[in-house]
Amino acid sequence: MNYLQTLAPQIARIEQASSALGFVASCDLQVANFCAVLVAGLGSRRVLELGTGTGLSILFLAQALAEDAHLVSVDIDAKCSAVAAQVINEARVQLEVADAGAFLKACQPNSYDFIFADAWPGKFSHLDVALEALAPNGLYLIDDLLPQDNWPKNHQPRVEALLAALEAMDGFALSYLNWASGLAVVSKLDDRPIAPEIRRHADYAFLFSETMPSDI
Ligand SMILES: C[S@@+](CC[C@H](N)C(=O)[O-])C[C@H]1O[C@@H](n2cnc3c(N)ncnc32)[C@H](O)[C@@H]1O
Repeated sequence: MNYLQTLAPQIARIEQASSALGFVASCDLQVANFCAVLVAGLGSRRVLELGTGTGLSILFLAQALAEDAHLVSVDIDAKCSAVAAQVINEARVQLEVADAGAFLKACQPNSYDFIFADAWPGKFSHLDVALEALAPNGLYLIDDLLPQDNWPKNHQPRVEALLAALEAMDGFALSYLNWASGLAVVSKLDDRPIAPEIRRHADYAFLFSETMPSDI
């Protein structure tokens, strides 16, 4: 299966609709393809995406889903989500218009086998509830870790703190990919509580906050 070729007509529709909307934060095509390859290979049944955008990554994820799998994708922007809904008409895909932080806080622990973290919550806030929502042996994929034009100021130290915090957690293993938009692939190794010492560490406190930092 060549997802890029198979999905070319829908990719073009999303690119056209994104441009009309002025949405410029779509996922890198190679990253979307990588997500799909992982979900297909792992056979992930319960998939969560944080940050639907206009649907480029879920287009790929939906193509990779098994018949009995389910994908939930959350975005705070109803206009973006509406574009995704126009292109992706698939019963296994559920689009939620909501704040991803609030969504994560309402999740039951161990609810998802694969989480694609492509919004602020679940990366630079609400990391604890996001990691709790991931099931043991699940995979957490974090995007946009290499500098982007739309990064907020003072962002590089946050990225480094995020990677350091994840590397310091015994219950997780991380591989950083200095490729495309910059990815971290994180495995949840067991069901231990998210390390309280990480929550208490002052340098990492923002990762578990419920608000955006004031310097954005
Ligand atoms: C990098 S884009 C996602 C790109 C998307 N995965 C795609 O392939 O097009 C980040 C998205 O996060 C959304 N977002 C920003 N803050 C959010 C929040 N607090 N809760 C949910 N979504 C949020 C934005 O509306 C934007 O669509």
